Amino acid sequence: MIRRAVPTEWEVLRTRCELCRACELGKTRTSMVFGVGKTDSPILFVGEGPGQQEDLQGEPFVGAAGKLLDEMLSIIDLGRDNCYIANVVKCRPPGNRDPREEEQAACVGYLYEQIRLIHPKLIICLGRIAAGVLIRKDFRITREHGQWTQKNGVWYTAIYHPSALLRDLNRRPETFLDLLAIRDKVREICPEVYGLMQS
Ligand code: URA
Repeated sequence: MIRRAVPTEWEVLRTRCELCRACELGKTRTSMVFGVGKTDSPILFVGEGPGQQEDLQGEPFVGAAGKLLDEMLSIIDLGRDNCYIANVVKCRPPGNRDPREEEQAACVGYLYEQIRLIHPKLIICLGRIAAGVLIRKDFRITREHGQWTQKNGVWYTAIYHPSALLRDLNRRPETFLDLLAIRDKVREICPEVYGLMQS
């Protein structure tokens, strides 16, 4: 008798995303970009959607913005091995335009499923699109970046998207402070990430 392994919830979700053609983006993509990192991490970063390099390589944040994101993470002693990184939409919007409302609506259920499975304590939105989806529809990134809000026991904040920081160096000092505040929040809420024990 051939025994087939029962797929995990993660495998089922990934396959559903692979097969998804709920919006136009599914028809033009090269790769579906699911997410990367530690699937039971208390820390989740959410960007908006894959760019050209991500579409080619099938992994989030591997282009120029991704290189900067890795540097931002390393400032606060985080990396792809101790947090999870996902996007609001899993397929590349052509020409790197913003994902449209209907594309976000078609895809966000997969992100909610990822959040349910990861069960993070902190969610850091990268840019206004993720903040608009996960924190508040009318979130203003210029005014509200770095602020914390708690919903259903999960802490949320938003920082400037790394692509915005590549375009506008003036935003980097504020983002540095936001990163330090994220590090403090990690120490407070999930110190085990830094190898610190809760007292
Ligand atoms: N920008 C995003 O928002 N996500 C990626 O994966 C890459 C660039």
